[in-house]
Amino acid sequence: MFKRVGVVGSGLMGSGIAEVCARAGYQVVVREVSEELLRAGLARIDGSMERGVGRGKLSAADRDAARARIRGTTVLGDLAGSEIILEAIIEKMDDKKRLYAELDTLCPPETIFASNTSSLSITEMASATGRPERFLGLHFFNPVPVMKPVEMVRGLRTADETLARCRAFCETLGKTVVACKDYPGFIVNLLLVPYLLDAVRALELGVASKEDIDEAIRLGLNHPMGPLTLLDFVGVDTTYYIAEAMFAEFKDPRYAAPPLLRKMVLAGHHGRKTGRGFYDYSKK
Ligand SMILES: NC(=O)c1ccc[n+]([C@@H]2O[C@H](COP(=O)([O-])OP(=O)(O)OC[C@H]3O[C@@H](n4cnc5c(N)ncnc54)[C@H](O)[C@@H]3O)[C@@H](O)[C@H]2O)c1
Repeated sequence: MFKRVGVVGSGLMGSGIAEVCARAGYQVVVREVSEELLRAGLARIDGSMERGVGRGKLSAADRDAARARIRGTTVLGDLAGSEIILEAIIEKMDDKKRLYAELDTLCPPETIFASNTSSLSITEMASATGRPERFLGLHFFNPVPVMKPVEMVRGLRTADETLARCRAFCETLGKTVVACKDYPGFIVNLLLVPYLLDAVRALELGVASKEDIDEAIRLGLNHPMGPLTLLDFVGVDTTYYIAEAMFAEFKDPRYAAPPLLRKMVLAGHHGRKTGRGFYDYSKK
C-alpha cells in the first residue's frame, strides 16, 4: 500500500481529498498555484476538521496528528516522492494535460496518476503521459470527508494491477468504490448534469422562482437539497465546465449549458465558494 500521497489543487475537492488521506494515516503533500490559494485550501481543511471535532467524529488528538501529516507547497516537484498523485484542478482538458505532461517528467515511472475529473476522458489525459497503464480516474464526491462513493474509472489502457491497488487504497479511506468505464460523466454526472441544466432552464423560462424550484424538488422528490442549491454547492463554474465537456462529446442539447449559467460564470457568481451563486452567502 502507498505511504505518501500527492494532491494537486486545494480547492473544494483537493482540500477534501487531502484531509481524508491524512486522516487515514497517509503523508500528504498538496500543491497549489499560489501561496494565497494554498493558505485558503489549508484553512478549508482546518475548518472541516474543526467541524469534525465539534460533531464528535474526530478527536482533537487525531485532528492534530492528521494536520501534521499535511504539507502544502507551490512547487510541483515536491510531489515527486509520492506513490500516487490525486489531481483535482480546474475541469479543463488543456490545463490537465499540461499538468500531467509536467508531472510525468518529474515523477518516477511507477507513480500512479489519478484524476478527480467529473467528465473528461481519462484515456485522453493519460495520452499526455508515458504511463497510461498507471493512470485512472478516482472521482470523489463533495464534501469528500462525508460522501461515501468513489467512481473508479478505467481508461482504455489502465492496468488491472493499478485498479486493484487503487480500490484497496480507496477502501483504506473508508470509501465505497463503484467501477465504471471511461465515458463522459461516468455514472453520477451522466444522470445528474442534464437534471441540473434543466433546473436552470426552468428558472430562465420563469416557470417558478429559484426558491420554489428548490422547495418543490426537496419536498416532492425527497432530495436533501434542491438543484439550484446543489449547483451553488458543487460550483456554478465547475458545472458549466462539465456541461461544456459533455456537450463537446455528445453534441446533445441536453448537455448544452443554458445562457444564464454562462453569464453567472462570467459574473463570478460561482456559488458558495465565491459568496454568491443562485443564492447570496456573503452574510453567512
Ligand atoms: N465541485 C464538486 O462538487 C466536484 C465533485 C467531484 C469532482 N470534481 C472535480 O474536481 C476537480 C476540481 O474541482 P473543485 O470543485 O475542487 O474546483 P475548485 O475551483 O474549487 O478548485 C480547483 C483548484 O485547483 C487549482 N489549480 C488549478 N490549476 C492548478 C495546478 N496546475 N496546480 C495546482 N493547483 C491548480 C486552482 O487554483 C483551484 O484552487 C475538477 O476536475 C472537478 O470536475 C468537482
